[in-house]
Amino acid sequence: MTPRRLPEGFLLGCATAAHQVEGGIDNDWSRWVAAHPEAVNGGGDASIAIDQYHRYREDLEQLGSMHHNAHRFSVEWARIEPERGRFDRDALAHYEDVARTCRRNGMEPVVTLQHFTIPVWLAEAGGFAAPEAPVRFARYAAACAEALGDTATWWVTVNEPTVVAVLGHLEGQWPPGERSLRRTLAALRGLLRMHAAGAQALTTVASHHGRHAQVSIAHHERRLVPRDAASRVDRTLARLPDYLFNRWFLRSCVAGRILPPVGHGEAVPGLAGSLTYLGLNHYTSEAVSLDLRAPGMLFARHEAVPGLPVSSAGWAIDPLALRTALTVLSREVGLPILITENGVADDHDELRPAYLRDHLHAVVEAIESGVDVRGYLYWTAWDNFEWVEGYTKRFGLIAVDRQTLERLPKPSAALFAEICRTGELPDATPD
Ligand code: FCB
Repeated sequence: MTPRRLPEGFLLGCATAAHQVEGGIDNDWSRWVAAHPEAVNGGGDASIAIDQYHRYREDLEQLGSMHHNAHRFSVEWARIEPERGRFDRDALAHYEDVARTCRRNGMEPVVTLQHFTIPVWLAEAGGFAAPEAPVRFARYAAACAEALGDTATWWVTVNEPTVVAVLGHLEGQWPPGERSLRRTLAALRGLLRMHAAGAQALTTVASHHGRHAQVSIAHHERRLVPRDAASRVDRTLARLPDYLFNRWFLRSCVAGRILPPVGHGEAVPGLAGSLTYLGLNHYTSEAVSLDLRAPGMLFARHEAVPGLPVSSAGWAIDPLALRTALTVLSREVGLPILITENGVADDHDELRPAYLRDHLHAVVEAIESGVDVRGYLYWTAWDNFEWVEGYTKRFGLIAVDRQTLERLPKPSAALFAEICRTGELPDATPD
């Protein structure tokens, strides 16, 4: 039998985020962890992370030598605009070089403008809901587009807007630690305006230079299924977070809903045309059932779907859920999809080879059924600072010795490299 192949020109590589790998960043997250060290599982912070700010050349060379042809990284707003309105030329030059280094090593850069973190001055002014946030974000986006736009075509404005709003403003686990539905909705509306303003800035700068920019959010799609399909209660409980998490933000982008002006005398552009592709982050599926002891979770219990294998993070491993997400979203948004994250926490690199194989098969099956998927970026290249999970969850293809910071590729890195080199998929795990 001929092996299954990925399409010609398919983007294949890894995704990272500045705060999780760079070290040495002063932003809302570093301040939050300094004030709440107990919030981080196993202790630790991102003050060194994996020191990629200084080691990006060797690191990117390593990924290039593994035949990756794309790499997603984020630029850090707090470095680029450390004080309101003051742009740091050196920081911009640094990221310009990161993008160039991707290209030099054969990788298409995919650049995220905002991956969960914001500068301290914006956090102090009210964060995502601050009236100035969209306009500030647009100026920051324009500065990045000017500096990196001749190297980078693929952009992500905001990473997982719904996740950052809910964890920071509803569940209180992330900065700024709020538990308020009103503040959550305000943050979501602010993020939507930021995305719209940022997308317009990216597009305007690109067309000014006669270029085309690919622009999207990175949408986190949670597959939520009723634990008991026959239970009306479970079905209803699965539907509500499905709307809040998976549909509201995306539908607002796609519908081109015009948001009212936001103060500072500057109107924020409407959203129509703010996505040219869809960035999809996808990990797992969750079973939802009634739990009267969980009012903060809207009386729902979320757990791994029974019967499926689970990762070291306790998340169900469910490649079919990725295929379903691709099909549903392609129908919903009618745009090409780039998988901007998909990966598994795995302490001993035992689950990852099958996870990679089976998820890539799911992607090819979706493509064969007519979904336009442009690429797949595995989360992540190196074990890193996993937010409030600290260094306890290992998603990387490459381990990093926490004492010496030595990079130690795992067996799955070689498996992925071979897929990148040949475009061929090893056989999927039999059912
Ligand atoms: C995603 C985040 C990424 C990382 C992975 C495991 O939700 O975008 O930064 O934390 O989960």
